[in-house]
Amino acid sequence: MSNYHIKHLEEYYQVYRKSVRNPEQFWDEIAEEHFVWRKKWDNVLSWDFTKPEVKWFENAKLNITENCLDRHLPTRGDKTAIIFEPNDPKEQAQHITYSQLHARVCKFANVLKDKGIKKGDRVCIYLPMIPELAISVLACARIGAIHSVVFAGFSATALSTRINDCDAKMVITSDGSYRGSKTIDLKGIVDEALEDCPNIDSVLVAKRINSKISMKDGRDHWLQPLLEDAHQDFTAEVMDAEDALFILYTSGSTGKPKGMVHSSAGYMVYTAYTFKNVFQYKEDDIYWCTADIGWITGHSYIVYGPLANGATTVMFEGVPSYPDFGRFWDIVQKHKVNQFYTAPTAIRALAKQGTEYVDKHDLSSLKVLGTVGEPINEEAWHWYNENIGKKKSPIVDTWWQTETGGIMITPIPFSTPTKPTYATLPFIGIQPALMDENGDEIKGNQVEGRLCIKYPWPGIARTIWGDHQRYKDTYFSAYKNMYFTGDGAMRDEVGYYRITGRVDDVIIVSGHNLGTAPIEDAINEHQAVAESAIVGFPHDVKGSALYGYITLKDSGESRNHDNLRKEINQLITDRIGPIAKLDKIQFTNGLPKTRSGKIMRRILRKIASNETDKLGDTSTLLNPEVVQRIIDEKL
Ligand code: PRX
Repeated sequence: MSNYHIKHLEEYYQVYRKSVRNPEQFWDEIAEEHFVWRKKWDNVLSWDFTKPEVKWFENAKLNITENCLDRHLPTRGDKTAIIFEPNDPKEQAQHITYSQLHARVCKFANVLKDKGIKKGDRVCIYLPMIPELAISVLACARIGAIHSVVFAGFSATALSTRINDCDAKMVITSDGSYRGSKTIDLKGIVDEALEDCPNIDSVLVAKRINSKISMKDGRDHWLQPLLEDAHQDFTAEVMDAEDALFILYTSGSTGKPKGMVHSSAGYMVYTAYTFKNVFQYKEDDIYWCTADIGWITGHSYIVYGPLANGATTVMFEGVPSYPDFGRFWDIVQKHKVNQFYTAPTAIRALAKQGTEYVDKHDLSSLKVLGTVGEPINEEAWHWYNENIGKKKSPIVDTWWQTETGGIMITPIPFSTPTKPTYATLPFIGIQPALMDENGDEIKGNQVEGRLCIKYPWPGIARTIWGDHQRYKDTYFSAYKNMYFTGDGAMRDEVGYYRITGRVDDVIIVSGHNLGTAPIEDAINEHQAVAESAIVGFPHDVKGSALYGYITLKDSGESRNHDNLRKEINQLITDRIGPIAKLDKIQFTNGLPKTRSGKIMRRILRKIASNETDKLGDTSTLLNPEVVQRIIDEKL
């Protein structure tokens, strides 16, 4: 039996038991047998959730790119590492072999070095889904610079906040990006962001859409000529196991985004091991994750996890609806995709189109289907299972988070019997707990509570960049000696988990985490706005959509409401990005408040979701009379 590759349910239980009885011995074996190290560790794990501090593979030395690239060269040099599928299907796909990827990463690392980037420096990457994105991520890792990829749908303000938070020295971007039939002026957004970023020394610009852009002398450099001149060897920097590999920002319920910091060794071991098992990847398989590398799913399951296993991973630049709603299925057929990993929101959007587009394509290559990012509703699950998987390909509903680095609760395909809407069983090494509101663990089955994790796993984020106290307060303070996920969950009669959703003020819209506070802050900047409260409400494609209740200042009362709605959504787009726009905006004379002046979002959530029969007692509010008025005026 190989602990690295689990092939049936009995094996899962055996390996799981081993992994929780003696986690150190278990991960020691996995790390030793399946990765290359410059130096082995002195100690597998030391941890203390009260500080909190977690260290895996202490004092080991490695470079993750040697595991993702160099070690494959003797056996997989000519194997395709990345298939790049462009936005426009008429443009040819690119097949980049492991040898070519290695050379391109080394060249890029030399360019970074020439521009003064050193181990430990932060480099912000703001690129569309083109090969340069994966290559720049790996080049940073090769040189030991900490990459901070910012999703290229974020606004200039959101970008500058992230650049300044980690004090990045360089930005890597492109002249623009394609998104379906549109182009986006990425370089213009970077220029605007950099007006507020005094510490950026250089900007590297990849050419993608051949648009006319302005280049600032001394600061901006076209990437291609630099790469052409660069040497194609670069000795990887030796990194300590616990050196930061990257920062990735995620929304919190309050305050600015949290820069989650991931480690080099633990993250590598965990993403590689989960990838192998959750997708049951076999040597000649073609694997495709539709996420953007700007999110954790792309980091872990487009780049690092697949490449550490020598896999072929597809990178898709476009959108599911261009040139038509058959695009995903066209790509599956064209590249004979074996594992397909996407978000429930995409499934719902495609299911809305019926099966016309699906039926035109040969999907017989598919073996495993995956979902991630939000709960999948039963209808979408069945549609996916019947029409895409033809009831033959197991669906892995994978629950995890930016903070966890890799998949935490998931079926193992062909082993774990699946159950619609259930993420099912904890992955190897993961020890979940459901907690009640008094801080006690709820034991047994058929129970519901707040989802925590009791024991460290190698992929856990080690801190929030520049704010360890916030890391402690957010994840380790609600429950003693536990990592608190912010999610609620149920455990059924056989021990399967079903994630019920966030229990804090984070709302997941189309699979993207959005904190309510930053959106409210953006709205409140509008000169006509007095106060605002954002809640989520059910949406048939997005999962949840945003509903804003807004009170106006006296001066705003006479303004046209439709114009105000447009201005407010524009403000949100400018401050955060179009993903945070509100679907509904209700202007109201007052917001329900507790006697201490806190807005009662619970009541607003029920009203937005048409559950006014479940409001509970509102008589203790400071202003109970506003509730009925809000209901009467609901959109
Ligand atoms: O609420 C959970 C939801 O997404 C949150 C994490 O979001 P993010 O850090 O952006 O990472 C998304 C990709 C890993 C979780 O706290 N979530 C994620 N996967 C699932 C899910 N909710 C239900 N089922 C899932 N499979």
